[in-house]
Amino acid sequence: MSKIKFFLGESMPLEMHKVRVVQKLNLIPIEKRKQALDDGGYNTFLLKNREVFLDMLTDSGTNAMSDRQVASMMVSDDSYAGSETFYRLEKELQSFFGMKFFLPAHQGRACENIIAKTFVKPGDIIPMNYHFTTTKAHIELNGGKVEEVFTDEAVKITSTNPFKGNFDLDKLKKFIKEVGVSHIPFARIEMGTNLIGGQPVSLENIKAVANICHKNNILVVTDASLLADNLHFIKEREEACKNMSLHDIVLEIAKVTDVMYFSARKLGCARGGGICVHDVKLFDMMKDLIPLYEGFLTYGGMSVREMEAMAIGLEETLDPEMINQGPLFIEAFGKKLMEQGIPIVTPTGGLGCHIDARAFLPHVKSEEYPAGALAAAIFLVGGIRGMERGTISETRNPDGSEHPASVELVRLALPRRVFTMSQISYAVDRIAWLFKNRDLVQGLDFVEEPKVLRFFIGRLAPINNWSEKLVKKFREDFGDSL
Ligand code: F0G
Repeated sequence: MSKIKFFLGESMPLEMHKVRVVQKLNLIPIEKRKQALDDGGYNTFLLKNREVFLDMLTDSGTNAMSDRQVASMMVSDDSYAGSETFYRLEKELQSFFGMKFFLPAHQGRACENIIAKTFVKPGDIIPMNYHFTTTKAHIELNGGKVEEVFTDEAVKITSTNPFKGNFDLDKLKKFIKEVGVSHIPFARIEMGTNLIGGQPVSLENIKAVANICHKNNILVVTDASLLADNLHFIKEREEACKNMSLHDIVLEIAKVTDVMYFSARKLGCARGGGICVHDVKLFDMMKDLIPLYEGFLTYGGMSVREMEAMAIGLEETLDPEMINQGPLFIEAFGKKLMEQGIPIVTPTGGLGCHIDARAFLPHVKSEEYPAGALAAAIFLVGGIRGMERGTISETRNPDGSEHPASVELVRLALPRRVFTMSQISYAVDRIAWLFKNRDLVQGLDFVEEPKVLRFFIGRLAPINNWSEKLVKKFREDFGDSL
């Protein structure tokens, strides 16, 4: 928690950085925003940046870099093979995770491809606290399946549980017994569980999961993409870790992990990604796939500038005042939304604020995609681009029926160090107006539905042209305001 106490009024998150380079934003009129939605198939992934005011789609590759990161990019050593930049990054990772071997990859899902290709065979089932879209897709492409072993708290929207990302240890033990270790090449621990609201896993739970796995000769694979937020929460919420440094916590996690992978678009506020291991045997099993899918072993699809920025970004991740900025802003955003009666996931986690679309739009059925409709409506009323994290992000059942997501969320991501409190107040204002007029919003229908990861490029249309009615009401209430 920020150490600063305030004399006047309530406390607020305080930026421990100043802004020195800015980018101009556009806020186009609501009629143009409606046109943008019509053109983009009511899918916020298909909007153009010039149509967006506040881009809260993701924190992936959109975090603000520090002056030190930008400066480091100027002194990179460019070479296909054996660049000094690579060795600097490798050294930083060896120190950061305390793991000896590093394989570079162009982003997180590329690591997932390498790991799935190496370890997953048809019939395998991979237990995890919660799936991530690309992780699951890679495991399934290799003939495997995913089993989620989360606790009952994980999918409760409102909770006071500090670690909703934890594994249910009894379910994990039962699962291993039932499936048999020969079908479980690894268990995957996702830090800062993305799809259930950026919810953390405790260090105690990580150690317990690793203990169960290692007793059964099952590898532990940790997805560290959202490690920074999770670290903040371990330090703040886990009594036993209060006096540990952030680096001590990282090393403890890495000590019980066999394969650590990450998207550096999130971790380290840069681009790219990579896989770290302790054991040369695991390194050898994966290394031949890097030149095949990513690039040579000393760049893995990344530019040297990205690698330099990542090395500094990782170092800065061990600064509590750097990594608390996301969670504290998200907490303040969530508090303001709740004051307006808007249903969100609690406790607030990392990555972004997550609105409960089922409670916001109770009249929209899962098959008509409440989270997709709400994400489109939030863009329409405020130029704010969030992301659907609900049934559209799921895959249909083999018989073609919908597989309703356990939670229907709209994620308003807060890339680190990017937005100000006044922009957040604006977002709250527009979402509060939408909440008052939520009866006007109906569901969506697919017009074009890709077979794999349909949420990325699928196109939908508003049922009964609800967006037109919302534009009309906006004009009645706001006059000629943007
Ligand atoms: N694992 C987690 C937990 C992630 O959140 C992501 C990406 C990936 C893996 C894949 O990494 O994008 O570098 O290929 N999450 C982004 C998001 C896309 O918007 O939440 P990537």
